[in-house]
Amino acid sequence: MAIAERPAEPGTAPQPGAGSASGGPPLELHVFKGIPGEPQGEVTYRVPPVTGMVVLDAIHWIQKHVDTDLACRWNCKAAKCGSCSAEINGRPRLMCKTRVDELPEGPITVHPMRAFPLIKDLVVDVSHNYEVNRRIPPFTPAADEPSPFVIQEMDLERIYEFRKCIECFLCQDVCHVLRSHDLHERFYGPRFLVRVASLEMHPKDTVDRLEAVRTEGGLGYCNITKCCTEVCPEHIHITDNAIIPLKERVADRHWDPVRAVSRLLLGRR
Ligand code: SF4
Ligand code: SF4
Ligand code: FES
Repeated sequence: MAIAERPAEPGTAPQPGAGSASGGPPLELHVFKGIPGEPQGEVTYRVPPVTGMVVLDAIHWIQKHVDTDLACRWNCKAAKCGSCSAEINGRPRLMCKTRVDELPEGPITVHPMRAFPLIKDLVVDVSHNYEVNRRIPPFTPAADEPSPFVIQEMDLERIYEFRKCIECFLCQDVCHVLRSHDLHERFYGPRFLVRVASLEMHPKDTVDRLEAVRTEGGLGYCNITKCCTEVCPEHIHITDNAIIPLKERVADRHWDPVRAVSRLLLGRR
């Protein structure tokens, strides 16, 4: 529902440093505006296109020239801080990594992430994620582990993929367990299953997190739809390389009697 229409001022120059004006017709952006408890809806803005423009450039142009009250969160504009997550044409994406000329022709919709409580306009409250993070025991090597660590190259490569996470929470946003079923209190979500996997697979870590990820982490809620993998801007293979191996380890623990007995006798690793 449009609650207002705010056209760009004719002839307004593009933002310095954002590239050169492409001379094409104005872009039409339908941007969500509102705060909880007050009328909310899309506002239509028309923005002069600029060569190489990304959606975040368009939002900045709107803030500078048309609507200084429009709120969005961003920091690096280089797809590295994970701040500018939003839903662009209905898909969770980074605004600073989404070129407008790569989107289908027609209006571009920009909405806040739906899986988290709205604060204002495109800004949502992602603090739940940090609370989940605090519940996961950190990396804990053995007290007598010699330093520096000596680790096999193949073990390092396996966990390196997970270290690329920029905590954009797009995977949390797209996951139906959180987004549609609102099971935030019973499911860690894909970002934190990645974190648990990175710790579980670290050859020098000594903490056992499998029971916690099975119970309070709600690993069983994941039905491997791979939606999280599809939206990850760092191309982390969330389901194949993190979640499925965790599920296998949990299944081994609970359903393989030979392994359960040998683990009891020989210890975890
Ligand atoms: S694969 Fe699992 S964690 Fe990822 S989006 Fe689907 S249900 Fe959620
Ligand atoms: S795993 Fe990917 S999508 Fe999820 S928070 Fe990390 S970088 Fe973002
Ligand atoms: S502004 Fe940092 S990831 Fe987009």
